[in-house]
Amino acid sequence: MIIEQKISAVVRDMPPSGIRKFFDIASEMKDCISLGVGEPDFDTPWNIRESAIYSIEAGRTHYTSNHGSTELRRAIRDYMDMRFDLSYELNQILVTVGASEGLDLAFRALMNPGDEVIVPAPSYVAYMPGVTLAGGKPVPMILTEQDNFRITPESLLSAITKKSKAVIVAFPNNPTGAIMTKEDYEKIADIIIEHDLIVIADEVYAELTYDKRHFSIAQLPGMQERTVVISGFSKAFAMTGFRLGYAAGPKPLIDAMVKIHQYSMLCAAAMSQDAGAEAMRYECSHGFPQVKQMVKEYNRRRRLVYSAFNEMGLKCFEPLGAFYIFPNISSTGLKSDEFCKRLLFEKKVACVPGTAFGESVDSYMRCSYATSYENLKEALSRIKEFVQSLKS
Ligand SMILES: Cc1ncc(COP(=O)(O)O)c(C=O)c1O
Repeated sequence: MIIEQKISAVVRDMPPSGIRKFFDIASEMKDCISLGVGEPDFDTPWNIRESAIYSIEAGRTHYTSNHGSTELRRAIRDYMDMRFDLSYELNQILVTVGASEGLDLAFRALMNPGDEVIVPAPSYVAYMPGVTLAGGKPVPMILTEQDNFRITPESLLSAITKKSKAVIVAFPNNPTGAIMTKEDYEKIADIIIEHDLIVIADEVYAELTYDKRHFSIAQLPGMQERTVVISGFSKAFAMTGFRLGYAAGPKPLIDAMVKIHQYSMLCAAAMSQDAGAEAMRYECSHGFPQVKQMVKEYNRRRRLVYSAFNEMGLKCFEPLGAFYIFPNISSTGLKSDEFCKRLLFEKKVACVPGTAFGESVDSYMRCSYATSYENLKEALSRIKEFVQSLKS
């Protein structure tokens, strides 16, 4: 038997993530500095870890309700209310295995064969394959640096067809660090309503903004009823390994997502749910002290990388959220794959080529500043040397 021939054609034809390729090489390389990772370098705050330990000690090691534990869903409900003025019933909230599962469930619950989902380009690497695996068709919506990588009425309209069913809205954005304000959303809301689109709002970086507080598109009039907010604990609370997220949205859509979830995941890990409930309750009641501390440090690093890239001649857009910066490398004459490959082999710095996030951004690279200030300084000095070497 030739196993390769048995693999689904959709999976076989799917390219592997452009991020992994580089990091497999970088992880084997001595003295390599990685600016590639999309995860906080902070330890999960102790009270959150302790609540997971206590959860196990107390024997909370069983399945929870498919929707997620009531304590956690109450904490999420209170958070959404307090932070974004969005009210949800408990049955409109589903606890998932990371935001990743929430996205997958939303795609699978919505797609009929051939349905189109408008996907921002550049954007997080999992959207396009996720839509394809669910039987839908991802349609790129090109976002440009001139528009500060925000969705404009023009970019949205150019991606809409008769088959469009949903649009992904993902701010603060990975990989650009762009955010959208209330005013930006107001400009596209009527188009979304007129074309009867569902909004899949990936808000995993909602807590990581540096200038303005995050505004959710679901907060606009007429939007909550057509928006599923997907979020999670990985980024704000440095809890990537807990694999915990949630979806909040219209009951019929959440019901459909629960149906898939109960046949696939059943529930997120019980001890992770207890830890998540502690994270949200503690942060909400104490004014987000631990999140604020991490954001303060990310902001210090953000200022460092933003000025260093501009000074070395790699002009970049100022990121206002998440922990990524997206320098424009066109002045070097190299395309992103070549630039990142040579940077890795010649200077031992790993960054992600723009093409990992969409073909339209081949003259950019993504650098994560979720690594120590010292590491960043060293990496920036190596990148500067590399850029200078290209000129000589
Ligand atoms: C935009 C975006 N959405 C979702 C995820 C996945 O998050 P989680 O760890 O909650 O599954 C990531 C991870 O990098 C991300 O960048």
